[in-house]
Amino acid sequence: MARLVLGVGGGIAAFKSAHLASLLRKRGHRVRVILTPAAAQFVTPLTFESLTGEPVYGDLWDPPRYGDDGEILGEAHIHLARWGEAALVAPATADLLGQLASGQARDGLTTFLLAFGGPVLLAPAMHHRMWAHPAVQESVARLQRFGYRFLGPVAGSLASGEEGWGRMLEAQELADLFEDHLHGRDLQGKRVLVTAGPTQEPFDAVRHISNPSSGKMGYALAQAAFGRGAQVVLISGPTCLPDPYGVEVHRVQRAEEMYQEVARRFPEVDILVAAAAVADHRPKEFHEGKIRKEDLLFQLELEPNPDILKEMGRRKKKGQILIGFAAEWGMDEGSARKKLLEKRLDMVVLNDVSGPGEGFRADTNRAFLVTAQGVQELPLLSKRELAHRIFDAAKDLPGGGRPGGGR
Ligand code: C5P
Repeated sequence: MARLVLGVGGGIAAFKSAHLASLLRKRGHRVRVILTPAAAQFVTPLTFESLTGEPVYGDLWDPPRYGDDGEILGEAHIHLARWGEAALVAPATADLLGQLASGQARDGLTTFLLAFGGPVLLAPAMHHRMWAHPAVQESVARLQRFGYRFLGPVAGSLASGEEGWGRMLEAQELADLFEDHLHGRDLQGKRVLVTAGPTQEPFDAVRHISNPSSGKMGYALAQAAFGRGAQVVLISGPTCLPDPYGVEVHRVQRAEEMYQEVARRFPEVDILVAAAAVADHRPKEFHEGKIRKEDLLFQLELEPNPDILKEMGRRKKKGQILIGFAAEWGMDEGSARKKLLEKRLDMVVLNDVSGPGEGFRADTNRAFLVTAQGVQELPLLSKRELAHRIFDAAKDLPGGGRPGGGR
């Protein structure tokens, strides 16, 4: 669990930051909030103090304060810069971005940001014309050069009642993304391709063969890789999930389409994670229109689908890492090892889909990570946490990720 600093700028989106502070605390982090004087007009320090159980920092000229353990919070902003492990500014207003880009330190938050050496994420929120203004865009480009990472803004309804590009991400999304960034930037500069979800193999206009994969594991992997600095492409079968932030998503229906999308990109990829539950077979024939119910009692003739992962294993070049999944009814390490060899994989994530809270549809998963080097048994974890454990383990593989640069 981390010591996090949440900087809040003076915009109406500050109300979402109260929820964000509360979410981060519930996830076990210590959260200290620092408000600009303008932010304190929108949400009071007391709100944040109550939600985080920590002192709230404000104006540069506030008298020195003391923490619970008698710790002196005088020179508060420098003290906070030493205390925090990572920082998120939400909302980051046009004024804040401008100040930070030009190295100004007029209030407590900008003073803290200049003094802070850890990773900083910026979540802008403003009117769409302000966001599009060349001065703001120049600040953004400058801050990106300095190593700051931006989360949003996204397009949507704005406080002015207009629609446009300038809306802050929701608290839940920011909390997830902030946590994903806490694992470092070891995939910086790497290209990661992820497959996710089920495939659907239609035999008439309204019917198909499929499986109950929700896509949650693959989406968590794509989001985790983005958080760790990778350039991520997700090839997804049909799911109800929204596109993960910062990830290029291509949606397909059939295994054959997934195969084409993966094969086209594979030569450029550093890591392929195949989390999709690809249908092994497809109906041999497709009937135009809808087959009448009475005529459905025919025998469905099937033919095999391409094994996407196996084919990529065949094409694998030195340095490329292939990670596959094995969903088993019970833990069958032998079959995972067989898969490792047969498909020329670097890691098999073996998971038992028979237990409650595991495998298809669940938010949690219990897995064994099987590599040529050995087996790592993991406890029941959220799919997001498991995604990070998989990339942690991938670092130790021969040719695995090396730590990247950046803030
Ligand atoms: O052989 P099995 O289907 O158990 O292998 C599972 C692994 O292979 C998963 O990583 C899955 O995404 C991948 N796979 C594939 N194409 C298939 C079948 C499985 O990429 N046709």
